[in-house]
Order: sequence, then C-alpha cells, then structure tokens
Amino acid sequence: MSCVKVSPATVFTLNINSIAPDKSISHRSVMFAMLAQGTSEIENFLRAEDTLNSLAIVKNLGAKVEDNGEIIKISSDGIKESFEILDCGNSGTGMRLFCGLLSSAEGHFILTGDKYLRKRPMKRVTEPLISIGANIDGREAGNLAPLSIRGASLKSFNYESKIASAQVKSCMLLAALRADGICTYTEPELSRDHTERMLKGMGADIKVEGLKTTIAPLKNLLAPLKIRVPSDPSSAFFFAVAAAITPEASVVLEGVTLNPTRIEAFKVLEKMGANITYEITADKYEPIGNIHVKYAPLHAITVENNISWLIDELPALSIAMASAEGTSIVKNAEELRVKESDRISTVVNGLLLCGIDVKEYDDGYEIVGGNLQKAKVDSDGDHRIAMSFIIAGLKCGMEVSDLDCINTSFPNFFDLIEEMTNLEFD
Ligand code: S3P
Repeated sequence: MSCVKVSPATVFTLNINSIAPDKSISHRSVMFAMLAQGTSEIENFLRAEDTLNSLAIVKNLGAKVEDNGEIIKISSDGIKESFEILDCGNSGTGMRLFCGLLSSAEGHFILTGDKYLRKRPMKRVTEPLISIGANIDGREAGNLAPLSIRGASLKSFNYESKIASAQVKSCMLLAALRADGICTYTEPELSRDHTERMLKGMGADIKVEGLKTTIAPLKNLLAPLKIRVPSDPSSAFFFAVAAAITPEASVVLEGVTLNPTRIEAFKVLEKMGANITYEITADKYEPIGNIHVKYAPLHAITVENNISWLIDELPALSIAMASAEGTSIVKNAEELRVKESDRISTVVNGLLLCGIDVKEYDDGYEIVGGNLQKAKVDSDGDHRIAMSFIIAGLKCGMEVSDLDCINTSFPNFFDLIEEMTNLEFD
C-alpha cells in the first residue's frame, strides 16, 4: 500500500473503542518486566511494528514470553547476552530506553534501527551514560546507531538535562536502578512521566519533586507489572482533530490515558474553540477515561509552553490550525526537527502544498488559517505526518503517499477512518 486517496467526510458521530494502545506504555511494559521477580501480565499491548520490535528484543535478551493474543506474560531471570542484533526498527523510544537498560547488563549488545532511526541523535543518551561509566560506541563518536554496548559498572549521578525528553529521563532512570548509589535527574520542563509512575507501582524507590527525580538502586527485583495498556492519546488526537474540523461531527475516544503530560494537545484544541470534555473511568498507574470532542468553529492560538506535553500531536494540531480563523504560532519546538522526520519541514511543506500560508522558523512555524485544498503529500516515512494529512483530507480530499510507516504505531488507523469517509488505495 503506497498511496491513499481520501474523500471529504460528511457528518459523523462515532464512539471509538479501538484506538491503538499507548505506545510509550507498551514499550515500557515489556522492558520493565525484565526487572521484576515473577510474571508480569500485560493486556492490550500495542501490536504495532515499534512495540513488537521491543517485545522481540526482550525475548532475545532471554525473557520468557507467553502470548495468547490477549495477555502477554513475561518472566525473566536477568538480561542475557544476545546472539542477535537488536533491531529497534523506527523507534527512538526503543533504542534510547534499551541503552539505559543494557548499559549495566553483563555482555555485549548491538542496537540498530531502520534508515530513519540510524540518522537520529543518540548522543543525548550515550553522553550521560558514558559519563557514569557506560561502555557505548557508534558512528559519530557514539551519536549514531548501530550502537555497541558492553555492560559496565555504573556510578551514581546528579544529572541536569538540558532537554525535556522522557526518553532521556527514562534511559537514565533505568541506568540508575543499577548504579552504585542514589541518583538524581532534573529536567527543564516535566516530560511524560510513565516511567516514574510504573517503576513506583512496581515498588522502586523513586521520588519525584517538581522537576527533580531521585531514585535508589535496586536492592531486590521489582514486583511484577499487572497492566492493561490504555489507549494512546497521541493516536486518539487524530480523531479529535477530525471531529473539530468537520461541521456537526462528534467523537467519543474511549479508554485513553488522561495523564496530564499527555493530553495537552486536547487542552489546546479546546482553547481553540472545540467542545471537549473528559470523563475518568479508571485509575491504575495513571488516570484513564473517555474524551468527548464536538465540532465548533476554531480560532487561532499560540503554542509555546509545555511543548514536550504535545510534541507528538503538533503535526495533527497544525491541521486544526490551518482550519482555524486567524494566525497560529508554534514556538520553542526545535525538538520537532529530530523526530521520525524533520517535522517542522514536513508540516510546513505539506501545508504549503495544501495552499496554506505558512512560515517556517528554526523552532516552529506560523500558520495562517484558510481553505485547505486537496494536494498530493508524501509522508517522508513519518507515521504522524501521514495520518495528519489523511485527517486534513476529511476536510478537502487528499492524496497521501508512503503509508507503511502507519504500521509503526496505529495498524487499524484506516479501519477507523473508513467509518468517516471513502478511501481508495493504490
Ligand atoms: C516518548 C517520548 C517523546 C515522544 C516519543 C515517545 C517516550 O520523545 O516524542 O514519541 O515514550 O518516552 P522525546 O523523549 O524525544 O521527547
């Protein structure tokens, strides 16, 4: 499947209970199961390429995995050296978190990824890990995968990160679990906190005070994880935008994590005028519930704070901005440049093709809301760019190419879109 033609949608009212399970939590679940004594049970694991790669790596590291299609049971008696090269595919989260997990494991490990991941910066994790004694190397002095890791003894640390990145934070917290003393990690802005919540739930000695996390090395193995992975707000957000730009449409997005570090994009869409309400239905490790979104005319907004809380949703939010009245601005979002694609240029170039007046900045863009027009847009191998422009197509029609990447995070995306409009695949 290389190209899809999307027709404009007419009114829809949908309850969606099959949004892809959360990617961040799925990666972490299988990795953290390796730190537990006993069998972890993971329900509603995301069966998409990125997270299935993490599951395959965990198996290659010696974990015993039983999967009945509904619940994945994982038990481990320690990380074992692998005969295989560990392939993270397209996933930055996979590669960066495994760096933290493996840097103290006994043995030698090679982490690699696809042609996109092998171009993404790894120095942000390899540098702090090397500074505490890790033995890691790769191209560009340890910046680019393939990475080679020989497990080593790690020293305790007080690390002040310059970037608000949950991947860097999680990598260092995993390393801290095997360091030789109590560690602290401070970040400039709070990034998503699934790692802290899950490790705490498993019994780790971890304390969060504002932007500072203090964590003690493991004395014993952790308690096994028993988790039902909630739906992914980043995946749900495509449908929030779909409803927000389609007159009289509405959606209910069920079973989504309502962790505040993950739903900021919904809050922004609400400030732009969309009618959004939240309903908490469960609370394990984090609050979970339903998000109701109803169409209302949108107006422009400036987004410049808490960027890490909505970084993954900015491509879809840019479609809402292009449909809003007035000029919207995104600032302080330079991290977009090092995602699955350079998302500042892929968003700007895509919107220009759709006839929207856009200006590119080093750290963001300015979008003058107007009439989105049908165009041919290539995803540049980036799942969130592909899905964002397919959503734009619900308004004006669209042809989007390079679609295989959608399988990295949301394999049933097209089944859900087909409930709103007609699709033609080439
Ligand atoms: C993620 C953290 C974020 C996010 C990514 C998933 C995670 O990346 O963009 O999709 O699961 O920790 P950064 O840590 O690079 O901000």
